[in-house]
Amino acid sequence: MAEALQKVKPKHVVAEVGDIEVGSCKIVKVNGRSIGIYYDGSQYHAIRNVCPHEQAELCKGTFSGTTMPSKPHEYIYGMEGEVLLCPWHGWEFNIHNGECLGDPKYKVKIYEVSVEDNRIMVQM
Ligand code: FES
Repeated sequence: MAEALQKVKPKHVVAEVGDIEVGSCKIVKVNGRSIGIYYDGSQYHAIRNVCPHEQAELCKGTFSGTTMPSKPHEYIYGMEGEVLLCPWHGWEFNIHNGECLGDPKYKVKIYEVSVEDNRIMVQM
C-alpha cells in the first residue's frame, strides 16, 4: 500500500535517439542539476555530474573498464564501458549503481532512463 502512495517522479526529455554516439556522454541540465547521459551501445545511463570526492564534473571523465580483483602479478581487465573515471583524481564509479569501486560508501546519483517515441527521458 505504501508503494502505491509513493510520488511518481516526472520524466524529462534530455535528447533524441541518435544524438549521443556510442561511448559518449551528453551533459544536460534538468531541474538545475547537471546530468551526464551516457550511451553504452545498448542502453542509456543518467549520472549526476558531480563527483562525491571534491565535486569535479564527473561526467567529463572517461568511460572505460578497470582492473578486476585478481591474484598477485595477475592483471585482469573487465567491466569495459561500465566504469566512469573521475577527471580530477581518478576515482572509479560503476555506472549501473553509482558506487565508487574503491570505496562503496561513496556513491554518485544514478537516475532512471527510458526511451519513448525516439526521445530519451530521465525520471527525477
Ligand atoms: S573530485 Fe573526483 S576523484 Fe577527486
